[in-house]
Amino acid sequence: MRVLGIETSCDETGIAVYSTEEGLLAHRVHSQISVHAVYGGVVPELASRDHVRYLRPLVDETCQAAGLSLHEIDAVSYTAGPGLLGALLVGATFAKTLALSLGIPALGVHHMEGHLLAPLMETPDLPMPFVALLVSGGHTQLVLVRHVGGYELLGTTLDDAAGEAFDKTAKLLELGYPGGPKISLLAEQGDASRFPFTRPMTDRPGCDFSFSGLKTQVLTEARRLAADKALDIQTKADLAASFQLAVVETLVFKCRRALKQTQAKAIVMSGGVSANRLLRQSLKALEMDDIFVAYPAPEFCTDNGAMIAFCGAKRLARGQVDESLEIKIRPRWPLAELPGVF
Ligand code: KG4
Ligand code: ZN
Repeated sequence: MRVLGIETSCDETGIAVYSTEEGLLAHRVHSQISVHAVYGGVVPELASRDHVRYLRPLVDETCQAAGLSLHEIDAVSYTAGPGLLGALLVGATFAKTLALSLGIPALGVHHMEGHLLAPLMETPDLPMPFVALLVSGGHTQLVLVRHVGGYELLGTTLDDAAGEAFDKTAKLLELGYPGGPKISLLAEQGDASRFPFTRPMTDRPGCDFSFSGLKTQVLTEARRLAADKALDIQTKADLAASFQLAVVETLVFKCRRALKQTQAKAIVMSGGVSANRLLRQSLKALEMDDIFVAYPAPEFCTDNGAMIAFCGAKRLARGQVDESLEIKIRPRWPLAELPGVF
């Protein structure tokens, strides 16, 4: 079965063709960074319009790269949520119309399940159950994956997501958008031991997170330094490095706890923040404790169509399809409300 995956939940248009027999045949991502950068964050209306503009040419380009015509596609999966309402509507309307015109099934999938299963694309023999750390712009979650569709939420953020904390911290340091890559790049020149920021919630039981206080600590420090006329580029790099280390150490601390609590022997990481180099190195160190560690290639960490095609293929192969032609999207959609797959 060949599945066309369509991702439009936020500021990337992602298209892919995944074959259940041959694996990923092609994928393309169009990033909207240049559209939103001048505003310092995603402007939802502009995101929707950009998806409208790029969806069709990107589908053609992806099919061409896969060496297929549209008529050789067997099903379409698309992101039905969570995400920006307008952006989701564009992708869902396009996907369902395309499927109807081709006479093939469509299936709306959960964006975070896409991230959650993305590591399986490259590591299909991952031992289950495994713990998944989902770290994106909107989510920070630790999930126990018993099987595809069988998810138990172990912990989540009480306020800002990790990616959001990176983005807001970058903004207050005037580093630009998107913040994650900017902070991590600048942090490479910085001294991570200069500012001893706290590791939030590590002194409390459980696997929940809280990152908004950390951002406030950076803000307070930056204001104090600016008042002293001492907020030069090296100091910003030291702040970036110290902040990044605090986030990474907190995430890894909670990953260890989740592994211990569940007795799982494998951990995967996904979502935009999992592209962070320090986080990737730090999680890999868990291998010393005989833990199997896997994460997707950086291009599959941030939003992409491949994970949506892959996730759709898993569910379509088990007979799940959209029952009606109604365009149903869910901008808010807790992972726990996903239908199971057995
Ligand atoms: O998964 P994603 O592409 O979109 C959402 O579903 O949110 O994640 C985007 C988030 C942004 O907050 C971005 O700043 C962050 O991932 N990010 C990073 C890095 N690359 C992207 N954060 C830290 N380090 C990075 N290298
Ligand atoms: Zn995402």
